[in-house]
Amino acid sequence: MQQRTNHQLSEYSLKTDRCASILGTGSYLPEYIMTNAKLESMVDTTDEWIRTRTGIRERRIAAAHETTSDMAAAAAAAALKNASISAEEVSMIICATVTPDMFFPSTACFVQSKIGALHAVCFDVSAACSGFLYAMEIARQFIASGQQKIILVLGADKLSTIVNWKDRNTCVLFGDGAGAALLGHREGSGGILATSMGSNGSLANILYTPGGGSAAPTTSENVDQKLATIHMNGRETYKHAVKAMVDSSEKVLAQAGLTINDITCIIPHQANLRIIEAIADRLHVPLNLFHLNLDRYGNTSAAAVAIALHEAAQTKNFRPGDLILLVVFGGGLTWAASIVQW
Ligand code: ACO
Repeated sequence: MQQRTNHQLSEYSLKTDRCASILGTGSYLPEYIMTNAKLESMVDTTDEWIRTRTGIRERRIAAAHETTSDMAAAAAAAALKNASISAEEVSMIICATVTPDMFFPSTACFVQSKIGALHAVCFDVSAACSGFLYAMEIARQFIASGQQKIILVLGADKLSTIVNWKDRNTCVLFGDGAGAALLGHREGSGGILATSMGSNGSLANILYTPGGGSAAPTTSENVDQKLATIHMNGRETYKHAVKAMVDSSEKVLAQAGLTINDITCIIPHQANLRIIEAIADRLHVPLNLFHLNLDRYGNTSAAAVAIALHEAAQTKNFRPGDLILLVVFGGGLTWAASIVQW
């Protein structure tokens, strides 16, 4: 990694009004580990197929009574402890999820009640696997404008409730979990230096859950047809995921006036090892620059990059000034990349 000069760093800081830094992180993973061997007993698949096509060895599955907000609240509590901030100090909670506890109230409202964040404004963001970075960018804007001081950003999903456990094309890919980050202004850190986001709604039907909403409400017929489960065109998703994540990484680097050689660590959406290998190849960086955990957790949607961020923060010994690239892709289609200065 190239050393950045103070002059360069102050230039980046000038680009934001009041920068938003990561004050603490946390995560929660359910106890139950579903191995590939277990899936072999459920659908016509093999451990070898799953490992070689996806890189996934096992995933966590939440208990029946455990909700998305339970997981998010546990991740939030860990982040508050990590940052030495009390729940009463949190002024906003944004939860990215596609598996809310209910259509309404928002999952963020349930989390507020569970952690006792009495003074927070709460709402959810729906951007599938990209949701955590969308939520981070919303939080950054509120902090930059001076309207909010401490924002709890959550990525939480209980995908096991919308997986068709008879469809081998999808059920091997996903898991449950939650991740959290507390954002606020901290002197001496550039925080989130730049974010690039994009969406393409005309490709909604390559990765979606067609039933359960107003388009195909819950009827016994729709339930029989498994409409409220994940439908995916794997090959198309793969193709668009690689392109969007490479393009948004390049865009956000250009926005921040950086090159890939400045980056200490890349934290990608954890969908599939082959997608990440293709991105590494196209960005001309070694695979070990990426923080990976998809072998242990599979794809946990909005939670994936948040859990990986927490893990990387705990294990990689980031130093002040280190530059982290976060990059995601999900249903919508949606994608985003952010650069965070530690
Ligand atoms: N076990 C065994 N065989 C399987 C399984 C399975 N679990 N799933 C599919 N197959 C079979 C297919 O039926 C097909 O058989 P056929 O040739 O007899 O029809 C064969 O394997 C090849 O299927 P492909 O879809 O061509 O397999 P591919 O190499 O593309 O891998 C995969 C499939 C892993 C889904 C890949 O397309 C992929 O990674 N796509 C990206 C999708 C992704 O990561 N989605 C996660 C959600 S997206 C997100 O998070 C943003």
